[in-house]
Amino acid sequence: MTRNYSIAIDGPAGAGKSTVAKIVANELNFEYIDTGAMYRAYTLKVLQNNLDPKNQDEVNSLLDSTDISFSNNHIYLDNKLVDDEIRDHRISDNVSYIASSKEVRERMVSLQQEMASRKSVVMDGRDITTVVLPDADYKFFVTASVEERGRRRYLELIDKGVDSITLEGIIEDIRRRDEIDSTREESPLTRTEDSILVDTTDLSIEETVDLIINLVKGGK
Ligand code: DC
Repeated sequence: MTRNYSIAIDGPAGAGKSTVAKIVANELNFEYIDTGAMYRAYTLKVLQNNLDPKNQDEVNSLLDSTDISFSNNHIYLDNKLVDDEIRDHRISDNVSYIASSKEVRERMVSLQQEMASRKSVVMDGRDITTVVLPDADYKFFVTASVEERGRRRYLELIDKGVDSITLEGIIEDIRRRDEIDSTREESPLTRTEDSILVDTTDLSIEETVDLIINLVKGGK
């Protein structure tokens, strides 16, 4: 391969983005970069330091002393593996506040751009097609109805043994996160005109992966 290629994928929570992005990256032998995991890792750092996630000055105060990196699809916070910790509900409940900070976003975006300059990547998140890699070779907006996204998240949690939840509660949670992510001032989630819309409401993971791989291999 003579140059690096980039596939940018944006979309709301629970649309199946990361699962699909990971498989696509694997099939194409590209690196997968889960940018949501980076915001989650920083949220973990804020909570570990007992800072208030809603106070942007407090949140930003740790930026210079935080290291976030990926190695073999695992995420490290200050050189410690945090794959599992960042999926905790305390993180999910607070990450939207952290991701609203302009300073945090600037730092994450520059880290992400640096990663994409070094190798071919599949990168997923909320601002990849708009801010991080607006000139990506391929851009996708992967979404699904809020009810279907809620249903998937509900089944995932039940599968993990979480039993204190209701489907309605999860759907409400997703609606709330959608609202924060798409109305925030800094890089709100939006679909660019040149992103290919992939609605996964009635698609399996395999069907979604095939659709994306075919579009990429077919040269759009
Ligand atoms: O995809 P996820 O649920 O792991 O994302 C966690 C949060 O981070 C979510 O609230 C949206 C935010 N996020 C973002 O603002 N920009 C990104 N590129 C990725 C995630």
